[in-house]
Amino acid sequence: MEVCSTKGAIRGLVRNWRKSGNSLGLVPTMGYLHEGHLALVRRARSETDRVVTSIFVNPTQFGPNEDLQTYPRDEKRDLALLEAEGVDAVFMPDVEEMYGAAGDTFVEVPGLSARLQGALRPGHFRGVTTVVTKLFNIVQPDVAVFGEKDYQQLTIIRQMVKDLDVPLRIVGQPTVREPDGLALSSRNVRLAAKHRQQATALSKSLAVAANMAKPQLRVAEMEREIRTILEEAPDAEIKSVDILDATTLEPMPDILDRDAVILLAVRFGSVLLIDQKVIHVE
Ligand code: PAJ
Repeated sequence: MEVCSTKGAIRGLVRNWRKSGNSLGLVPTMGYLHEGHLALVRRARSETDRVVTSIFVNPTQFGPNEDLQTYPRDEKRDLALLEAEGVDAVFMPDVEEMYGAAGDTFVEVPGLSARLQGALRPGHFRGVTTVVTKLFNIVQPDVAVFGEKDYQQLTIIRQMVKDLDVPLRIVGQPTVREPDGLALSSRNVRLAAKHRQQATALSKSLAVAANMAKPQLRVAEMEREIRTILEEAPDAEIKSVDILDATTLEPMPDILDRDAVILLAVRFGSVLLIDQKVIHVE
């Protein structure tokens, strides 16, 4: 496995692979890898000849009061995990390499980025779409894999790729969970023990909602049920419960009449957890 810390080095590798006729998959990450990230890597491996994973804690997607400084890192362990998965190259630039020469150009999907998580974290998605565009331009993959766990991020990246005719295919990978249902996240290690226990409320509420789902169900009824379950966790600070059209993220009408996605954002202490479930309606 090659480890590249400069754009020039990864570009050189990719150029050679392309010359030999290999297709290329990219899995962008911010490191501190877990089984969720590795599921993305395996998906990329099943779709393309060569796989590049990037590890870059992207400062432009963190707000001034967010956890950039304390974002967990373990490069040695990350590299060992990626090597074991048969990844061909890791692109691991520092901030200077990534942004050192940058001016004030951003890539933004304004409508979708301003809502939901974007309203809670102003500027976050602009940072994501900008760094993802840079990664696409540096690595030039045929396929890029993202998790459904960050459903709004996935939707925004799909929209950006469509709007700007970016020549690659976006693949969404289902959320990987702990045995008790908690979605894997690098932030989970920062949950206090009692919060870790209570955090199962998110996946529990999504499972109950999925079981209720039937055409013509009142969306408000589903939301009430979700909130009731979340409120049973004494320290849960519910930031948002949204039940939306699964492809546009526009609000659903009053009744369930098409595929929907439920998006949750719940804070435990200083840790913001998100989770999501797509609800299929026949
Ligand atoms: P990060 O949070 O490291 O996540 C990297 C990728 O792993 C994302 O596509 C995310 O949706 C996916 N992922 C995280 N947890 C998952 C889980 N439990 N199951 C399946 N997939 C999961 O998302 C980012 O980094 C950044 O915003 C990035 C896209 C790299 C841009 O900086």
